[in-house]
Formats: sequence, structure tokens, C-alpha cells
Amino acid sequence: VPYYFDHNATTPIAPPVLAAWTETAAEIFGNASSIHHFGQRAKQRLESARRSVATLLGATAREIVFTSGGTESDNLAIFGAVRASQRRGKHVITTAIEHPAVLNACAQLARQDASVTIIPVGASCETGFELLRSS
Ligand SMILES: Cc1ncc(COP(=O)(O)O)c(C=O)c1O
Repeated sequence: VPYYFDHNATTPIAPPVLAAWTETAAEIFGNASSIHHFGQRAKQRLESARRSVATLLGATAREIVFTSGGTESDNLAIFGAVRASQRRGKHVITTAIEHPAVLNACAQLARQDASVTIIPVGASCETGFELLRSS
């Protein structure tokens, strides 16, 4: 029997999620930005999902942003955080073992005018806490 341990990369979909997704994809296919009935139905489903996620996380619906995947989320978080705090300076600290999407975003910031510190991680996964403290 094969066992799947790579949940870091992707996970099997939970049956209730699959059921909700299948129903939505099949029946609520409108573009949520459209003003017609089909679009407004999709918008209602989207906003309902946003409220559910917000409740689960103890957040407000306005704080929930759905993205298309990991790279887009990384870019939104990293470029957004730097932009939001640029008055305090542009210094990004990351580790050498982050996903390439994170490291590529940091490399892009370094090519602009940000300073980027990449904390090395040893074979036993200990990070350079001294370097982190002094960064
Ligand atoms: C931190 C991180 N960023 C980006 C990705 C890539 O995600 P996507 O293929 O959805 O862009 C992954 C995938 O595992 C990830 O873990």
C-alpha cells in the first residue's frame, strides 16, 4: 500500500470541500465581478466563503484575500509588507531554505533598493539566531 507523506507540497482534498467545490464549479459559474444574475450568485457564494474563513480565523471578512496559489500569495505578502512599511526602511529577513517563490521575491527586492538578509540554516535545521538578532 503506498503512503502519501508529501503534505508539504499538496494535500488530498477533504470530501466536504470536494463536494462544495464540485457544486460551485458546476452550478455557480458566473464571474463574480459581473452585474448579471449569474455573476451576483457567484459573488454571494464568494462573500459567504470569505465570511466563513474569516470566522474560522477570528478575522474580519475584509482581511481575507483569496489568491490563485502559493507564488501569488508570497508576492502579495512580501511586496505588500515592504510597501506598507517602507517609511521605516526596506529590510527583509528570510532564510536560505524558503521556497524559491519567496527567495525570488526577495531577490527582486534586492535588485530594487531593499536590503535583504538571508539567514543560513544548518544541517540540523538550526537557524543563525545571532545573525537574526543582529539583522
Ligand atoms: C511557500 C510556497 N510558495 C509558493 C509555492 C508554489 O505554489 P504555486 O505553484 O501555487 O504558485 C509553494 C508550493 O508548495 C510554497 O510552499
